Parts: sequence; structure tokens; C-alpha cells
Amino acid sequence: MSAPEASDRVRVEWRNRIAAEYGSAAITQHFVLWLIQLGASPDLIDDGLAIVKDELVHSGLSAEVYTDAGGDEPPAIDRAGLGLPRRDVALELDVLRATLQIYCLNETVAVPLFSHLRAGATVPSARKALDRILRDEVRHRDFGWDCLDWFLTTPLAERLPALVEAELPRLFAHLHESYGSRDDGGVTDDDRTWGLAPPREYADILDETFTRDYLPRFAARGVDAAPAWQARRPA
Ligand SMILES: [Fe+2]
Ligand SMILES: [Fe+2]
Repeated sequence: MSAPEASDRVRVEWRNRIAAEYGSAAITQHFVLWLIQLGASPDLIDDGLAIVKDELVHSGLSAEVYTDAGGDEPPAIDRAGLGLPRRDVALELDVLRATLQIYCLNETVAVPLFSHLRAGATVPSARKALDRILRDEVRHRDFGWDCLDWFLTTPLAERLPALVEAELPRLFAHLHESYGSRDDGGVTDDDRTWGLAPPREYADILDETFTRDYLPRFAARGVDAAPAWQARRPA
């Protein structure tokens, strides 16, 4: 049986994924530089460097799916997004914010999201990309929580719960903006075979991730994530 014809939605999505994965490689490379500047544990630095390579592979696999779907435009890569901004605060605080946003939140919800996308993906190129991405995302998620645990061994440890609780409202609001849509996005059953899912399913997975992952994982580190989660929707 041949693969269902790819729609424009499929091409737009996989073209975006090429750029997003490429951006993840650049951001992680930058993040690892920060870890090196902080003198973080060598294990964390190694794990971070492995993630950079994974993300480059993900970008290449996404490009293969895009080509397979009939796409022939270059990816829309914005150089301005290929790094992490420094604020006028101690480097530790920028590393903490990036740890939370990129790895503890985004990579943690990425595991069930990619698992869901993979479950419907039967087109071989899409399946191959999602197999690899899902396998790696588990490690990327764990990297975030390992970074947070490393912070608990530094002089920041005592203040860590309060610092995290202060960051979470903004970070949850941002996640909600990215994944909170109740729309179906026009995604069809054929699109699912190419590894797409309607935005409203992303929203359900985000809600489940809060209960199953964010809340207990933060609680294990002395952080109460519930107030920030409840406040995530603008009144
Ligand atoms: Fe990735
Ligand atoms: Fe990742």
C-alpha cells in the first residue's frame, strides 16, 4: 500500500520541524557552553553534547520526511533564534531558567507528544524520524531533571525552590500559549499517517503531563508547581 498523498499541512509541519530541531541543536550547544562556564559536572556536559548531536540528526530526519512529502523549499531558519539570550543577572540564574524551560518543561512534554505522533505515523519516513526522536527525547527529558538536581549540589540549593516557583508562572503561561489551543487545525486521518495530530490533542497531553510529570517531579525537589499551573491562564 502506498503512502497517502501528503497535504500542505504535512509539508508546513515537517518544514517547521527541520528548523525547530536545528534550533534545538544550537540552543543546546549554547547551553552546554554555559554549563562549562559554570564548571558543571562532566557527566552533564557529556550528556548535553550528545543532545546537540541528536538534535542535528532529528533535523536531518525531518528534512527527509519533508522531501518525501514533496517539499522542496529550504527550511526557514532564523539565526536570531540560534542561541540563548543573557539577562543582566548571574549566569546561574540564566542557566536555571533555560534548564526549566527547555528541558524540564519542553523536553518532558515532548516525550508523550512524540509518542502520540508516532502512534499514528505509518508512512515509513515519518515513522523512522519519530522512532529516533522519541527514543532520544527520553534522555533529553532526564537531562533537564539531572541539571536541576545538580543545582541542588551548588550554593544555590537553599534558594532553589523559591527561585523555581518564581519562574514557573511565566514558563507555564508560555507553554499554555504554545500547546493550549483547542483547535483541530484541520488535521485529517491521512495527516496522522505522516505524524501530525490536531492541536487540541497537544493540549490534553500537556494537562496530563502536569499531573503525571511536572507536579511530582518538582515536588520531589521541594517545589510546589500547583499555584503557577493554576494561574497559567490569563484571567
Ligand atoms: Fe529533537
Ligand atoms: Fe530534544
